[in-house]
Amino acid sequence: MSPEPKSQEQWSAVDEYVNGLVVRPDAALDQALASTAAAGMPAIAVSAAQGKLLHLYARMIGARRILEVGTLGGYSTIWMARALPADGRIISLEIDPRHAEVARTNLSRAGVDHLAEVRIGPALESLTKMAAEGEGRFDLVFIDADKANIPEYFTLSSKLLRPGGVIIVDNVVRNGGVLDGSGKDPNVAGVRRFNDLLATLPDVSATTVQTVGSKGYDGFTLAIVGG
Ligand code: SAH
Ligand code: DHB
Ligand code: MG
Repeated sequence: MSPEPKSQEQWSAVDEYVNGLVVRPDAALDQALASTAAAGMPAIAVSAAQGKLLHLYARMIGARRILEVGTLGGYSTIWMARALPADGRIISLEIDPRHAEVARTNLSRAGVDHLAEVRIGPALESLTKMAAEGEGRFDLVFIDADKANIPEYFTLSSKLLRPGGVIIVDNVVRNGGVLDGSGKDPNVAGVRRFNDLLATLPDVSATTVQTVGSKGYDGFTLAIVGG
């Protein structure tokens, strides 16, 4: 019999075990996390196992163009950039110029700066501008910025997606907080508005998978839009 699932301590220990053998993050990724911490930025990047998951999803669909909402230090950006072909592109949107600066350094150190671009500004504005300028046909979108605006990011990035493209949204379970319908926590409220939206969209096929690991108990929503 396997032991009862227990605790954060155990989830982190299993993540560590898996990282060494299966995920195999490298020096550039470790350095991206270290420089993010050294800059006083929060330790909220995806875990190594989650980064590898994003990388594998991108490869599974043969993604050539990826859009990310929420860059931080570029950790998830590097994982996804590494899934791209030589002429691929990842554009990552970030509101904080300091974060963008750290991310650009990390992308360059990881040797993916020719594939990756960080655009500074509120993502609502950047996405609106991209749609107005006809920039589009992304294969994959990863939404991981402020949680209150998740539904708006989903709607705007849907317009930038190729038919049948994939949108992945981070932090949709929030330690089970998603069940709190009181509206007190604006992050949870954003996730719940997003789920209410998904329920109304016939051309979107989606699921939410709960996760545990070094980042606690949370989850991803995966959606295929149209096609
Ligand atoms: N995807 C990253 C983590 C992103 S953390 C990784 O896994 O490595 C969330 C980021 O979103 C932060 O850097 C924050 O500054 C940024 N952000 C918050 N609000 C935003 C907004 N309105 N527009 C764009 N970026 C925003
Ligand atoms: C937070 C944000 C994230 O994107 C995440 O993955 C974990 C935590 C936060 O703002 O607390
Ligand atoms: Mg996140």
